[in-house]
Amino acid sequence: MSVQPAKRTQGISPFYVMELLRRAKQLEALGKDIIHMEIGEPDFATPQAIVEAGINQLKTGNVKYTPAAGLPELREKISEFYRQRYSVKVDKERIFVTPGASGAFLLALGGSLNPAEELLMADPCYPCNSNFVRLFDGYVRTVPVDATSSYQLTAALIEQHWTKTTKGALIASPSNPTGTIIASDQLKQAIHTVNKLGGCFYSDEIYHGLVYSENAETALAFSDNVFVINSFSKYFGMTGWRVGWLIVPEEFVEVTEKLAQNIFIATATHSQYAALAAFDELTLTELERRRAEFEARRDFLYDALLNLGFKIPIKPDGAFYIYADCSKFTDDSYQFALDLLEAEGVAITPGKDFGVNEANHYIRFAYTTSIDRMATAMQRLERFIKAELSSSPAQTKLMPSGYNKG
Ligand SMILES: Cc1ncc(COP(=O)(O)O)c(C=O)c1O
Repeated sequence: MSVQPAKRTQGISPFYVMELLRRAKQLEALGKDIIHMEIGEPDFATPQAIVEAGINQLKTGNVKYTPAAGLPELREKISEFYRQRYSVKVDKERIFVTPGASGAFLLALGGSLNPAEELLMADPCYPCNSNFVRLFDGYVRTVPVDATSSYQLTAALIEQHWTKTTKGALIASPSNPTGTIIASDQLKQAIHTVNKLGGCFYSDEIYHGLVYSENAETALAFSDNVFVINSFSKYFGMTGWRVGWLIVPEEFVEVTEKLAQNIFIATATHSQYAALAAFDELTLTELERRRAEFEARRDFLYDALLNLGFKIPIKPDGAFYIYADCSKFTDDSYQFALDLLEAEGVAITPGKDFGVNEANHYIRFAYTTSIDRMATAMQRLERFIKAELSSSPAQTKLMPSGYNKG
């Protein structure tokens, strides 16, 4: 009898976009020009001051374990960042430096979730978070959301879906894949509702900083009884350095420390030293320039997709994604993405990577490439749509406009 993988892994979903990425790489190897709009990381290099701080640390050769909770000076800087940016006081003892937001989730869920307990999450949402819940033998109860709540959970939805086995709720704002932000008063109400119900509130704030309207408020502005997950990956342009942070309620400090010691020992030392330079004034100025560039890209892509006939019920205010309704063209967004890649070399992410709610009618476009490249991508997309619509009905995979889905 052969040894089988653990049963809990059966509930862990694959990333469909990986299949697309694999094919995109094959096509690139054959010399085809691929425009990558599927990638969820900034195309900008890590800011120079951060790189130098990391290299300088490596050059000392003194690259030993740091304390499990992170370099004390980095925890201090993060605490100061909250004071300056959000006018919120966070005791540095509650701040844990982690291998990315992913590491922060492992600690937060490992320290708070019992087997068979449930977490509420919006559908669509970033899939890895629910897979972490499965890893700890918990369950995710997804709540279908739409533009009426900015694709976010609300206090009312939380109350409505809360059951005896619910442990808490997770809100990611700005959201991946929709780029939408929860309004401050809505966030406050959602946190108070979860606190009232005696649960844990998890706030994924990894896209904070990448916002294009009013600032996204941190959950810590409304309660200390929350888990805040953040990272140097996106706004600070440090995806590959694997460094993020977690802020826990006071009562979870001890258990989180214990888990960090056991699971990671510590986050990579040079990455933590590099992150120390992330809050320098010059770095922040450069990051602000990049934020403005992302905003210009968002505006360009939003207009272009609307012109092509995609529906975007709410203009995204953050992150670097547009989640577009492609139901005018197809009932199978995964096939649409595969065909577009083959025909025109434009890579995008199908809705089914983010849940089941209307997933076949949605596509995520990441504006992690220049406006010039996106302009070319839009020309190709237009040609693709026209070609598919004019092909014979027997062969076509796309719906003519006005197609009745019912
Ligand atoms: C919403 C969200 N949370 C968490 C992560 C994990 O990020 P990292 O582990 O690189 O910090 C991602 C990455 O794409 C994300 O989109």
